[in-house]
Amino acid sequence: MSVILETQNLRREFGALVAVDDVSMEIEEGSLHSIIGPNGAGKTTFFNLVSGTLKPTAGRVLYKGEDITQLPMHRTIHKGIGRSFQITNIFPNLTVFENVRLACQALGSDSFRVFRSHLKSTAYLERAEEVLAEVGLSDRALTLARTLPHGDQRKLELGMILAPDPDVLMLDEPTAGMAAEQVPELMELVQSIQEAGDKTVVLVEHNMNVVMSVSDRITVMHQGARLAEGAPAEISADERVQTAYLGALYEDRGGS
Ligand SMILES: Nc1ncnc2c1ncn2[C@@H]1O[C@H](COP(=O)(O)OP(=O)(O)OP(=O)(O)O)[C@@H](O)[C@H]1O
Ligand SMILES: [Mg+2]
Repeated sequence: MSVILETQNLRREFGALVAVDDVSMEIEEGSLHSIIGPNGAGKTTFFNLVSGTLKPTAGRVLYKGEDITQLPMHRTIHKGIGRSFQITNIFPNLTVFENVRLACQALGSDSFRVFRSHLKSTAYLERAEEVLAEVGLSDRALTLARTLPHGDQRKLELGMILAPDPDVLMLDEPTAGMAAEQVPELMELVQSIQEAGDKTVVLVEHNMNVVMSVSDRITVMHQGARLAEGAPAEISADERVQTAYLGALYEDRGGS
């Protein structure tokens, strides 16, 4: 097993607030690694730092051994890190197909450098079709994105992240706002994409049933810091985690 993504004493302050407090973390290649913690723990800020959306106050991010700390998000995408946002991030008035094609095209300058321009557009179309098949939306290709059911919008979003064929998928609450009965389907999709493409998934998720069933490893964040890390069984048995918030979390949000 090798480490694909690593942070070393990663830190981000907002004024007096330490949103991410010297977090050192290693993500194994090919694993599904979840990051959990109560609201405000620093999970999204951690994602922002790794993906280049935000610059850290201190510390480093290493991807495949390379220091990517200072790279902006469009560069980390080219490196192979695909990242979702907590809020659905699709173009509502375009079709499903157009959304995915745009995501493919946005990467054109680097990923398809070898193609001439007329070949390029064919490559985008083919890639878009491939991606739609992968997320199970081929028969929805011509539907306007805004008219999709919420669960399918989340799949579309996944497709847009997958367009450049990233090695690492960073998913920030992909099941947020979904009806409970749609959640297993989306998570099965994430797992099948991960297994088929040998991808690494970093998942932020509040649904503990999901986290405990899909994760290889779990990191618990609390007030910006890394509180605990281990396999699901270790985390659910960890008394510190229990008292810090797991019990409360199950009561508050586990059923939603
Ligand atoms: N741009 C910002 N400016 C100032 N404070 C911020 C900013 N972004 C985040 N914070 C603060 O940093 C802390 C961590 O926020 P963050 O969004 O990373 O938490 P989270 O773990 O993702 O929470 P949630 O589960 O609610 O999504 C919070 O106190 C938040 O208010
Ligand atoms: Mg968040």
